[in-house]
Amino acid sequence: MKRIILDVDTGIDDSMAIAYAAHSPELELLGITTCFGNITAEEATRNSLTVLEKLGKQVPVIQGAKETLCRGERDHYARTVHGEDGLGNTVQHAPRGQAKEGHASDFIIEQVKRRPHEITIISVGTLTNLALAIQKDPGIVSLIHEVIVMGGAVTVPGNVTPYGEANIVADPEAAAFVFAAGLPLTLVGLDVTMQTLLPKSHLEAWRASGKAEGMFFADIAEFYMGAYESFYPGIGGCALHDPLAVGVAIDRSLVEAQPMRVTVVTEGEQTGRTVGSFEGEPKINVCLKVDADRFLAHFMSRIVGV
Ligand code: BDR
Ligand code: CA
Repeated sequence: MKRIILDVDTGIDDSMAIAYAAHSPELELLGITTCFGNITAEEATRNSLTVLEKLGKQVPVIQGAKETLCRGERDHYARTVHGEDGLGNTVQHAPRGQAKEGHASDFIIEQVKRRPHEITIISVGTLTNLALAIQKDPGIVSLIHEVIVMGGAVTVPGNVTPYGEANIVADPEAAAFVFAAGLPLTLVGLDVTMQTLLPKSHLEAWRASGKAEGMFFADIAEFYMGAYESFYPGIGGCALHDPLAVGVAIDRSLVEAQPMRVTVVTEGEQTGRTVGSFEGEPKINVCLKVDADRFLAHFMSRIVGV
């Protein structure tokens, strides 16, 4: 079993990633760390607790970065894509659970040191918490088993700018720092996640499951699909960005990757662009191909625990 920390900015596809991880026996979910991104860090914490409540799972949630590494607080969020509340406007009350005390970056440090070479960090939001953890304690770099990052667009256009993917654009310095840290890191970017579409027709299976969580995921996915339809007319579904990073943690053979050095543009109109090169060090594994059908079938078999 892989021991994981899931770092999120919950978010609709983050919610699906939480469910996928929580329902997968190959993974032991040690904690969910939250950061700003799709919404504020406080909202990401609330939403993560809300999703866990829907799932009936108890996992520690630890709040992290409220602002970027070097640029202060973000002045905008992705509410048009994920809803005013980040969960497709479905939040009706505060969750019963509470976040654990402390900062996400300290939780990462503590877990990695407690279990050297065992922890996989799956980051599906900004890379701020991980960057902060490494800045506080650089010794953890050699003790982390693996990092899997949903972020970037190395061979394809961006999604929030012509060049940049949302998680990298939201904190480019954090991403640049993490990619240069010498970690065993796999990048699951738009290069592959835009190929893993959840078709609208699949939501029927969730509604038909008769489970409250099935209805919840169908409702929030439908909102997300509405946003996708407005950005990509005729797409007929939504991209499973964050769930694919979890899928890669479960079964590496879902993707094919190439080792590349990836730098991040931090100035000018291309800010947030991830630039890959076969020259130079350190290299990270950039996913370039995905078995989308096999991934979708696996994801569907796990998401609402059916
Ligand atoms: C990424 O950006 C966020 O909006 C999603 O949750 C995902 O992590 C996709 O670019
Ligand atoms: Ca996310």
